[in-house]
Amino acid sequence: MNILGIHTTHDAGAALISDGKIIAAVNEERFNRIKHYGFLPINSIDYCLKKAGIGIEDIDIIATSSSVLDPSLKLLFNLSDREISKVYPAFSQLGNLKARIKSNIYKYLEPREVLPDYISSFKIKDSTKILPTDHHLAHAASAYYTSGFKEKCLVVSADGVGDNISIAIYRGENGKLTLLKNYGIEGSLGLFYGMVTESMGWWVGDGEPKTMGLAAYGDPNSFPDFILKSFMPEYENGTLKKPYNYAKINRFKLFDCYHFHFSELSSIKRIKDTYGDKNIAAKAQYLLEKEMIELIGYWAKKEGVRRLATSGGVFLNVKLNQKIVEANIIDEYHVFPNAGDGGLALGAALYQQFNICGEKNIPKLEHLFLGPEFSNYEVESILKGRNIPYEKVDDAALMAAKLLAQGRIIGWFQGRMEYGPRALGNRSILADPRKKENTNIINEKVKFREWFRPFCPSLLYEVAEDYFHTQREEFFMITAYSVRKEKVNQIPAVVHVDGTSRPQLVKRQHNEKFWRLIKSFQDLTGTAVVLNTSFNIKGEPMILSPRDALKCFFDTGIDNLIINDFLISKD
Ligand SMILES: [Fe+2]
Repeated sequence: MNILGIHTTHDAGAALISDGKIIAAVNEERFNRIKHYGFLPINSIDYCLKKAGIGIEDIDIIATSSSVLDPSLKLLFNLSDREISKVYPAFSQLGNLKARIKSNIYKYLEPREVLPDYISSFKIKDSTKILPTDHHLAHAASAYYTSGFKEKCLVVSADGVGDNISIAIYRGENGKLTLLKNYGIEGSLGLFYGMVTESMGWWVGDGEPKTMGLAAYGDPNSFPDFILKSFMPEYENGTLKKPYNYAKINRFKLFDCYHFHFSELSSIKRIKDTYGDKNIAAKAQYLLEKEMIELIGYWAKKEGVRRLATSGGVFLNVKLNQKIVEANIIDEYHVFPNAGDGGLALGAALYQQFNICGEKNIPKLEHLFLGPEFSNYEVESILKGRNIPYEKVDDAALMAAKLLAQGRIIGWFQGRMEYGPRALGNRSILADPRKKENTNIINEKVKFREWFRPFCPSLLYEVAEDYFHTQREEFFMITAYSVRKEKVNQIPAVVHVDGTSRPQLVKRQHNEKFWRLIKSFQDLTGTAVVLNTSFNIKGEPMILSPRDALKCFFDTGIDNLIINDFLISKD
């Protein structure tokens, strides 16, 4: 059985599950180079089908990531009104006012376009089922069905808002997700954090990691809580004690991406101007952690579980995840690494897979190498075609380790591209973590981004406990940890100002070549850690192809580029 998951708004993408196996998962921004692109994921669907060696006519189920009809689906799959009404019966049942209004809205939204001939390859067969999957259910499914949890667990999805819900609480048990409670937009902690992010001049749904990074430089006690609390909801004992009535949320569409912005912004900016950007960021981070831990703690206790799986954009906040781990409200914690809406295509597909098959055995996600790869032949053809001098190397991992040990900053491009926002050793910029100055050099001359942005370490799985106070298996850079005091000065370029770091533990079986690179670096230097940041510059999606890699390499201060077995050097 072939299940195609698709997500067509913010961070659009596609994922394919064939006979229970995840074959491919990608986000459209990587192909069209428009960050957070939110419309038809045509290239992503195309890639998923090609990877599986099948056509759209072989798809049995299309799992969409919303319970609300996206009119673009009709365009994409060339569906008639009759077919649409079978999928979304609410639109054809005019028995209540709400459905009538929705139906009329749909008519207004009905696209008049049809796909041009050169992309008309998405005609599905009559028996293909289109199964709408609620936004937060798709988030929850991405968390639960990748957790590896064998026993009952709590599953929490939290974001700005999706399908009119901001936080949804589920029980995961025997392969089934059961909704326990959800909270509407008036309970949104994600939008609160987004408002503070916008007050810094950053894009809501993109700049939140910057707010989190800046928070470490501020003092959450620099001004009273109530000053910022008046712009957020509050929870107590699982209930929304104080809903927050968000004023009109505005949006602006630019290159098929939505930029959301808030009417309360001038009030939040006044707080920022009075107390400083670092302090308002620290306060927002503190309040987010406090409310979310209160809510999760309540539900975990009520359900009698110490096991938690999460997804939704709020859980991209690695400091929040650290605090959840440290709060002693749970023992086991799994965060789906592509927690934002970029992960919804896979979440929707996983939900339908498990519900249709009734599978009870939940596998643990081992890796995210689910995107395109390029052969040596393809890479060499591109280099030759552009007259770019290169050298073919026998052992790319060893060569990279040697260059890093010499103090070089390298672009590292191997195998299948990562799914999600983190570079995990296949589309990475790497540097020596022992040199503190690499933080400034990479921020200023390679990624062209803010001075306070931290960098992360990738380290051998075998040495994790030497560096961090944890026994958790952290493969995806999705949780921060305190670095052991005696190690801080050994790897200063990957330790944030608050003494924490967001590591990737690299297991040999997950990525042999990247593991060997770090091992070789250890053999040369005694340090089994490298600085690993995503292969892109500020404001651009992570690279996908050799061509993207070459453009980024020649446009930045990266010293050497290794693509598969080919070394390209600026000198
Ligand atoms: Fe979401």
